[in-house]
Amino acid sequence: MTNPSHWYEAGTIADLRKKGRLLFRHGPLQLAIFQVDEQIFAIDNRCPHEGYPLVEGKIAAGEKVLTCNWHNWKFDLHSGRCLRGSDNTRVYPTKSESGSIWVEIAPPNKEEIATRLLAGLKQAIAKQEYGRIARTLARLHFNGIDLKRALIHAIENSYDRLEFGTTHAYAATADWLQLYQESPTNLESQIIALAEAIDHIAQDSLRHPSYPYPQTSREFSHAGFLDAVEKEDEEGALSQLRGAFNAGKSFADLEHSLTAAALAHYNDFGHSLIYVYKSRYLIEQLGSCVEQPLSLALGRSLCGATREDLLPEFRKYTHYLDAASKQPPSSQQDVEDVEDLFGLSVNRAMQWVVDKLQSHAPMAVFAALLEVNARNLLCYDMGFQTASDRSVSDNVGWLDFTHAITFANAARMQCSRFPEFWPQALLQLACFHGRNQPYTTAVDEERWQVENSERFFAAASEQIFDHGMARPIYSAHLLKTTIAVREELPTATPSGTRYLLAALNRFLHSPIKTKHTRRVAKQAISLVSRDFHS
Ligand code: FES
Repeated sequence: MTNPSHWYEAGTIADLRKKGRLLFRHGPLQLAIFQVDEQIFAIDNRCPHEGYPLVEGKIAAGEKVLTCNWHNWKFDLHSGRCLRGSDNTRVYPTKSESGSIWVEIAPPNKEEIATRLLAGLKQAIAKQEYGRIARTLARLHFNGIDLKRALIHAIENSYDRLEFGTTHAYAATADWLQLYQESPTNLESQIIALAEAIDHIAQDSLRHPSYPYPQTSREFSHAGFLDAVEKEDEEGALSQLRGAFNAGKSFADLEHSLTAAALAHYNDFGHSLIYVYKSRYLIEQLGSCVEQPLSLALGRSLCGATREDLLPEFRKYTHYLDAASKQPPSSQQDVEDVEDLFGLSVNRAMQWVVDKLQSHAPMAVFAALLEVNARNLLCYDMGFQTASDRSVSDNVGWLDFTHAITFANAARMQCSRFPEFWPQALLQLACFHGRNQPYTTAVDEERWQVENSERFFAAASEQIFDHGMARPIYSAHLLKTTIAVREELPTATPSGTRYLLAALNRFLHSPIKTKHTRRVAKQAISLVSRDFHS
């Protein structure tokens, strides 16, 4: 006896034999029905690739494999598994009774669907298949499954394939997630935001093996953790992080130590601090399931970060940090003479910070540094991104300038939680300024002024959602800079506000050279030839 709630009459055997195939509609569902030998098969009619009708497909004699004629994807009629192509599809139980064909269309089991879709997502990430990532997100949505599970899945399946730990992919994931949260009623924007995040994660982990994390666990201490990071002792640092989690601590309990480690040096031109800030956001939004993966990846990146303050250009950082740390807290507001800062070298900019901290609150010094770094971004000399005949030290592009703003944003966020780190944050912001300002030029500042910030950000958001850039690292910078500017506007001086908006405007509307073939070749020859010619 058929179960009337799940089994539906889909046609007759006679009709199927006559036509060779049947199309059965059930609500929004369309099923393609075939007979091979004596077996009857029912499969979703819409091809999971681009939706063309599988009922038009072909089945080779004696095979139970259906080929979609549009792009030659092939599906196992027993399981729906995709044998050539990527996305699997759904098949339905069938039976015949008294010359009629019946198909069982049971209500979907959400968890089973989620498991199947997330398994497919893992494959899509492994091959960085953007279309499949987007289709999976759409399928999760229409099956009533929280799309954030896809992000969690992407993090859980990538954190050990990031060779040097946290990358921009996770930082950008936080920013895309923010756009996702801001688009609660716009499915298209939601799918873009999460597909972009997952695509970036896929790009950074593409073709990488697993780089296992140490499994050891030992007691966490602030000093012990900092010491291990300082010594680039990954096993020591990560086993302490594991120990902390095993002892019931959370990221929030470790954030002070992670911030201290990130600011212990001018780490990776400020990237380490950005990663701490963005990891926190991801953990707050996605929950404790990503706490350990993100923390371990962060710990790994902290251990391996380049300490830029060891370079001759920034070597006096430690000296100025000693001086800045001795300044008693001051509450006087507003730095009046920001103009003094323009044109200062790295060391003179750091001295400026030390001097200003004698009589100004850190936030006032921060606002001045934010302003000059915004002006640097506004005035970036794009000749440096197109030049191919300069030395490697002059490989200075847009992203060197946007980092000053995103670092400033992370610095203020972290120092508002842990004010004792203001000296490090301000000096590193001074390093950004001193390093970048030689690569600026006069630009028509009026041309880039923004009159209406609300309209400007709405247009920026539209641009970012349909950026058209192939490599996620560049679209990520459009996004992260926009978010940083948006978050910093309330802290900026009136002139800082103008510079931030104009700078972002110019950045969003200027070409970014994303590949430097001639420069790379010339610099490779220059480097290698030195060993062959005196
Ligand atoms: S639509 Fe079926 S393979 Fe492309």
